[in-house]
Amino acid sequence: MKTLQAIRGMNDILPVDSALWQYLEKTVADLLGGYGYQQIRLPIVESTELFKRSIGEVTDIVEKEMYTFADRNGDSLTLRPEGTAGCVRAMLEHGLLGGGVSHKVWYTGPMFRHERPQKGRYRQFHQIGVEAFNLAGPDIDAELIILSWRLWQKLGLAEAVTLELNSLGSSADRARYREALVDYLRARFDQLDEDSQRRLESNPLRVLDSKNADTQALLVEAPALADFLSDEAREHFAGLRALLDAAGVPYIINPRLVRGLDYYGLTVFEWVTDKLGAQGTVCAGGRYDILVEQMGGKPAPAVGFAMGMERLLLLIETLGKVPAELARQVDLYLVMLGDAAVSAGFQLAEQLRDALPGVRLVVHCGGGSFKSQFKKADKSGALYALILGEDEAAAQQIGLKPLRDRTEQENIPWQALPGRLKQLL
Ligand code: HAM
Repeated sequence: MKTLQAIRGMNDILPVDSALWQYLEKTVADLLGGYGYQQIRLPIVESTELFKRSIGEVTDIVEKEMYTFADRNGDSLTLRPEGTAGCVRAMLEHGLLGGGVSHKVWYTGPMFRHERPQKGRYRQFHQIGVEAFNLAGPDIDAELIILSWRLWQKLGLAEAVTLELNSLGSSADRARYREALVDYLRARFDQLDEDSQRRLESNPLRVLDSKNADTQALLVEAPALADFLSDEAREHFAGLRALLDAAGVPYIINPRLVRGLDYYGLTVFEWVTDKLGAQGTVCAGGRYDILVEQMGGKPAPAVGFAMGMERLLLLIETLGKVPAELARQVDLYLVMLGDAAVSAGFQLAEQLRDALPGVRLVVHCGGGSFKSQFKKADKSGALYALILGEDEAAAQQIGLKPLRDRTEQENIPWQALPGRLKQLL
């Protein structure tokens, strides 16, 4: 029989890798908690309509990347390609955005996009997303960037990432810009790549994002969005920049940064690295003040970002920033021989768990000789083996054998063991 395999672009996270994932998740969760953000947990499946309406019909995601299927009753459902749409839906559905009350939330979990898999780009990937609602000023934009900057420092990535910043202006600003850009590009239609030709009518701003070299060359002389910004948009952007300058967060302005989702306006930003090859954006987001209203709510300003966990983990590994303490997952390994020893061993182990909260103690299961058990103890990475044979059980003692240095084994009375371990661990 042919063995079954995971779906292309959807990865298993194996036990050897999970400690690093947990480290990243915990670092981010602790940091966000420290800024007063609360977790929101959202469904993985939503109505297809939700993503069409929010991300935009003429985007790569909606046009060609969504995992969409018919539910048994015929409803069209989609595996979420991102978290913002579902987050806004939930905030609206539960009436949390009324009365101008502000909310700061975050979420984590798998997202699904049918992209061509390569290093740093997968069909199931994981994001940690952060969203803030009912806050209109540049102060919250700055906070989101400052907290991500702190995160890069905590993770040891700060040297390897650059913040790119742009303002997309208001909807009206973009409408005026759009006209000028379309006029300019229409006059050069034949020189555009195929995708950009198609986008010219439907979503011309996305042409700015084209990877095609000829199209990029054409864009050098094209009208610039920055020249079409209203006074309010300029002020917002200047306010953000002043706060970032004061906080000492370095950034560059990238006037071509437009983002691949339609809901953005005013601030957009990406944290990029040149250490991962083509998929160098590790974190991206911006302001989406129009989305709540577009999804049927009363207007409520909003801003957020999401980071790609796989890319951050690749970067941590590439830069050699995996914390050394992750290498060891076990403190103690209890080896036991004989029925009386096994029975006493289980009881002792539970007492140790009470006395030393957080201790990582592996109780040997599966029998075997002392020799084979010691091999497993050594392989587990434990600092000490606890040894319980018939003799020790009879004498109510336990052997404590250091596995990482040549110190002598000690024999310790059972009741003295927790105290001794507290000294050692
Ligand atoms: P996005 O730029 O589509 O934005 O994705 C955010 C991040 O998710 C990317 O910068 C990247 O690190 C990661 N990512 C995206 N696609 C993949 C993939 N196929 N494989 C691996 N990683 C990937 C959003 O999703 C917005 N919802 C962000 C946001 C939140 N804006 C406002 N609030």
